[in-house]
Amino acid sequence: MTASPSADSARPSPAALRERAFTALTAARARTALLTDAVSDRDLIAQHSPLMSPLVWDLAHIGNQEELWLLRNVAGHDSLHPEIDPLYDAFQHPRAERPKLPLLGPEQARRYAAEVRGRVFDLLERTALEGSALLDDGFAFGMIAQHEQQHDETMLITHQLRSGEPVLTAPDPDPPQGPPPAVTEVLLPGGPFTMGTSAEPWSLDNERPAHTREVGAFRIDTAPVTNAAYQAFIEDGGYGDDRWWAPEGWDQIHRHGIEAPLFWRREAGQWLRRRFGVTEPVPADEPVLHVSWYEADAYARWAGRRLPTEAEWEKAARHDPATGRSTRYPWGDADPTPERANLGQRHLRPAPAGSYPAGASPLGVRQLIGDVWEWTSSDFLPYPGFRAFPYREYSEVFFGPEHKVLRGGSFAVDPVACRGTFRNWDLPVRRQIFSGFRTARDA
Ligand code: AVJ
Ligand code: FE
Repeated sequence: MTASPSADSARPSPAALRERAFTALTAARARTALLTDAVSDRDLIAQHSPLMSPLVWDLAHIGNQEELWLLRNVAGHDSLHPEIDPLYDAFQHPRAERPKLPLLGPEQARRYAAEVRGRVFDLLERTALEGSALLDDGFAFGMIAQHEQQHDETMLITHQLRSGEPVLTAPDPDPPQGPPPAVTEVLLPGGPFTMGTSAEPWSLDNERPAHTREVGAFRIDTAPVTNAAYQAFIEDGGYGDDRWWAPEGWDQIHRHGIEAPLFWRREAGQWLRRRFGVTEPVPADEPVLHVSWYEADAYARWAGRRLPTEAEWEKAARHDPATGRSTRYPWGDADPTPERANLGQRHLRPAPAGSYPAGASPLGVRQLIGDVWEWTSSDFLPYPGFRAFPYREYSEVFFGPEHKVLRGGSFAVDPVACRGTFRNWDLPVRRQIFSGFRTARDA
């Protein structure tokens, strides 16, 4: 094993851990409130897409998971409302069926989530954050804050799919601070690096444990692929040429008549796209968004390149050639800031490609964290030594060739649920997620 990340150097005090958990839970609830107070009760109950739950389901599910893990499993309490528990178990009811369940109404769901949260704050005050794997470093509290933020991203996707007047606003990202990257790709020399983590206290089971990976030399884009570049693929007839497509991707675009990213349409020779209820010309220099793995894979082949593997992506994001160590983020071990990455729904769009020089990796790769989730070529698989924790249904049941890994987080991901080791996954047909990509090639 090479040296482990430095995240374990200074253990925070119990008071600091409590503060961190309190802040993370409170920030998540503020975002949940923003997303659910923005629409009418009718819109909370409605199903805006068969791909998504009604927002009111996410709201009560957030409270129910918090009750399950913190009040029942950590504190040993009985269920507050046993009759509702099965309704909010994601594995008992697929999303398309959730509107037909006897769900809590908007006011009941809000009250339930608040009732759980009040008891959780009492628990956080009186519980020692040590002595079990759930309590050590406040893990269960951190896991629940991440869970709520993940559902907040899911709810933001529902907002994007919803038709009607815009209800969310946010300032656009600032123009790039400083010059664009000097080159379009960088060379990562071959050699081992430490992938995953055994030290990051709130990392989830699939990010563990830290292990050594041998990665051959490769080159990777310094910025995500832009709308302009992707448009060149479209104009070149990319969607009509089966040389570029995986067979299942070719089937999908024909079955569904897909000829551009989701939410794009062409009018009078111009590409427009709908974004949170507003239609606008597709911005040329922004990273492309709402593409499937198949579209990303086809673009890369057309460009004479390929998607990076998950290990290549993480090496580009974490390996510091000067020290041989893997850092928590491309810029080092410090937490994300607005100067380093576009995270946390501060903006409702990715920043132009080449933004955030302060967030670049040692070799100059930008925007690995934030802006758009990046598809990798890799299947979602366990690391050597993986142990499901605290429940098999978080990661383990999704391992296998049917899911592809996405890395780096989007503008819609909160920092608490984003780091150089964080792994997301989805089906290769998915396009409503905040997904983009960058390309790579053998060196
Ligand atoms: C990690 C984003 C794929 O939303 O399906 C939420 C996160 N797991 N509740 C998902 C999750 C359980 C998960 N992803
Ligand atoms: Fe969930």
